[in-house]
Amino acid sequence: MSATAAPRRVAPARRLHGAVDLPGDKSMWHRALILSALARGRSLVRGAPAGQDVASTRGALTALGVRIEDWDEGVYVDGDGIGAWRAPAAPIDCGNAGTTLRLLLGALAAAPLVATLTGDGSLRRRPMGRVLTPLERMGARFEATAGGADGRCAPITVFGCAEPRPLVYESPVASAQVKSAVLLCGLHAAGRTEVREPVRSRDHTERMLRLFGLDVREHDTTVTIEGPAELEPARVEIPGDVSAAAFWLVAAAGLEGSRVVLRDVGTNPTRTGVLDVLDAMGAELHRGEQRFAGFEPLADLFVRGGAELAPLRIEAAEVPRLVDEIPLLCLLATRAHGTSEVRGAGELRHKESDRLASTTALLHALGAECEPLPDGLRIPGPQRLRGGRVDPRGDHRIAMAAAVAGLWSEQGVEIADPQCVAVSYPTFFDTLEALAVR
Ligand code: S3P
Repeated sequence: MSATAAPRRVAPARRLHGAVDLPGDKSMWHRALILSALARGRSLVRGAPAGQDVASTRGALTALGVRIEDWDEGVYVDGDGIGAWRAPAAPIDCGNAGTTLRLLLGALAAAPLVATLTGDGSLRRRPMGRVLTPLERMGARFEATAGGADGRCAPITVFGCAEPRPLVYESPVASAQVKSAVLLCGLHAAGRTEVREPVRSRDHTERMLRLFGLDVREHDTTVTIEGPAELEPARVEIPGDVSAAAFWLVAAAGLEGSRVVLRDVGTNPTRTGVLDVLDAMGAELHRGEQRFAGFEPLADLFVRGGAELAPLRIEAAEVPRLVDEIPLLCLLATRAHGTSEVRGAGELRHKESDRLASTTALLHALGAECEPLPDGLRIPGPQRLRGGRVDPRGDHRIAMAAAVAGLWSEQGVEIADPQCVAVSYPTFFDTLEALAVR
């Protein structure tokens, strides 16, 4: 993101009112494009656009020789199996997108070609050893840059292996990106590839692989596939992103008199920890009737503001179901009656920013108290939010949380580098202004 971008001020609002159509789920978009590119035939992906991260996946696949076209009804992807992927002419820039980089490392581990993947300053600091270790056991080779929490970062050159070995992998982290990378390589390995996680992470890859015709077995926190497998083309419908919906759910829950409806939100239970936490805090949240898009559930969500909120409590086992929503929920904790605590959330140190540090910095910049813990945060409540100036340092979710704080604050919030929201939610500020009643 450009450091010279003009700052943006979000003024306090009296309440929020209206209905929102969300960007398409970012996690699902990445997977839909990659699986379509691995299938043999023409797939259709339909859904609202999801921002720059997904554009990074699309750009990467195009650089690998996959044809992707926009039509009125959606995006068509012409895949012809991994064997049809071509070595890119230049390093592939994954931008800010960890999912693009990690999932493509998995797919490319089984491609008979050499490719270099890199990204922006934030992505180049993120740990990649967690993905490279299992993929090396499957037969791929990597040249990575030294650095990061596990010693291996982008830029990374992948030397794919046309006949990878299947792997039964016990992952030390609950990470859908690690799990998906191993499964994407395992598609091309002869035999059983299995990933077991300490806690189950989001299961979009598993659900979508079924849509592309694969038999996927799941038991507790273990996923199993049999390779080699050929994917059939599919029609994928992408629901609204619950991680984007979370900003309006929280913004409205924290502002008395608010009434907001969010349409067609993905309600996959591996992603809806934020809804359960809002229920537990006592927010007035109502889920409409559940429908299905392929194997993914969706529903309209209704929220009213003003209910008295109990403190936020999040423990390790709940973290994967709301990992991206923790900074925002910590902001809501300033509206709760009592001391909130998040524990077992050390993974937040490895996101687009160190989100335990950036959430603490956010709350401090707004004039609120927040005590950082080695694996979480403690936040007293209720607290005044004075407002002020926030530099999200390129982290889209911190910028959007700062904007929500602006709506509740006494003096408004000025956000340096507001353009970084385009990573996941390009129309975020338009929606904010449409909902805000001043
Ligand atoms: C994602 C998984 C999560 C999440 C990220 C998107 C995905 O990361 O934080 O924003 O699409 O698989 P981890 O799987 O590394 O926890």
